[in-house]
Amino acid sequence: MTERETWATRAGFILAAVGSAVGLGNIWQFPFKTAQFGGASFLIVYIVAALGIGLPAILAEFVIGRKANLNTISAFEKLGYKEWRVVGAIGLFTGFWILSYYSVVGGWVLRYIGGSLTGAYFAAPAEYFGQVSAGMEALALHAVFMALVVGIVAAGIEDGIEKATKLMVPSIVVILAALAVFAFTLPGASAGYAYFLSPDFNALSENFAEIVPFAVGQAFFSLSLGMGAMITYASYIDGDQSLFGDGITIVFLNSFVGILAGFVVLPLLFAQGIDPNTSGAGAVFISVAGAFGDIPGGQIIGFVFFAVVLIAALSSAISLLEVVVSWAIDNYDVSRPQMAIGLGGTIFLLGVPSAIDSAWLGWFDTLAYQLLLPLSVLGILVFAAWVYGAPAIDELMKGSGLGEGVGLTWLWLARTLVIVAVVATLALGLQTLFLGESPAIVPPL
Ligand code: PHE
Repeated sequence: MTERETWATRAGFILAAVGSAVGLGNIWQFPFKTAQFGGASFLIVYIVAALGIGLPAILAEFVIGRKANLNTISAFEKLGYKEWRVVGAIGLFTGFWILSYYSVVGGWVLRYIGGSLTGAYFAAPAEYFGQVSAGMEALALHAVFMALVVGIVAAGIEDGIEKATKLMVPSIVVILAALAVFAFTLPGASAGYAYFLSPDFNALSENFAEIVPFAVGQAFFSLSLGMGAMITYASYIDGDQSLFGDGITIVFLNSFVGILAGFVVLPLLFAQGIDPNTSGAGAVFISVAGAFGDIPGGQIIGFVFFAVVLIAALSSAISLLEVVVSWAIDNYDVSRPQMAIGLGGTIFLLGVPSAIDSAWLGWFDTLAYQLLLPLSVLGILVFAAWVYGAPAIDELMKGSGLGEGVGLTWLWLARTLVIVAVVATLALGLQTLFLGESPAIVPPL
């Protein structure tokens, strides 16, 4: 077997992880929910959740991945806990499952890139969305998106994922910033900033029971936790860089891009007098898309906007295909490109029902978000903090230059608060599953 690959640089790892974290969630969920849940006052709750709960959880995945230098299933065996491979398997399955429909949404984005240039959706955005989000065309574009993902992953860690995300992540930031400046120049945009960020402690306190679990769930999903992605990416780290420092950088950049996206979409909507009172697919593909029809240069602006959405979706999707490819090439003597094609093809097939009928997509999404993700995060945390314990602290502290107290704080946060938060998320998820409420990521279409 050939030698296992590694990232060429520390920045390469960080950017790849940020690429995984920054995805559709940052663009179609974060800005709208922030506005709805109390603006700046919600941001405080979110930041506490991201730092107090998301950060310890992402560090748990990093520790497992770097210590074992193996894929998300074999890692547990290498650390001496063979039975815990089932936790890795749940994560791998979750990633597999999510990618199947995430790629369908990626296909819609491709459609909108073309549709922007021709102005196809300008006149009737809701109808257009209904037409392109299901059926043969959606299926074909799902295939194209998956082919792009396979192409990047097939090229390898350093030559594929690292090179791609080094280009993609800075592009996302620069283009979103440019779009934010453009949105700022539109008459009427300022109401958007007020809607987005003005603190509303009433909205916060009235909906607290709904907001806290949302903030926690969003922190997990947005940091790509529970999908095997962060364990897998950390397994390619070669060296003793501070995992703690990397984790903070990733959490910060991920939230920053969410806020930046808010500075694009909300002013755009307000300048066009469109009610942003929705989130999810409808927010981006109907409301924001609708705004492009009326602004000067809407074809170009729409094209650029959907291009950023595509880059964000792609850089997340590759992290999920890598989870399975990594497992396959660690265990079987088959080349990376062959595995990428074979597994990418299988995931494509799993996504066929979602592409044909968006009710399936909603069902896939609900199951992942309410059950698979929290279950997987829970398993990882119990393992890292309660079962593995002391060696996990050593691994976390390696190369960090920080005192022992930081490691102990991490351990006790992970053992207590973070686990309680995940159990609560799982309980809520099960409740939603069985009481049949609407899905969390993609609202009913
Ligand atoms: N963090 C991603 C997002 O916000 C979640 C994700 C990662 C989804 C990878 C799919 C694939 O969209």
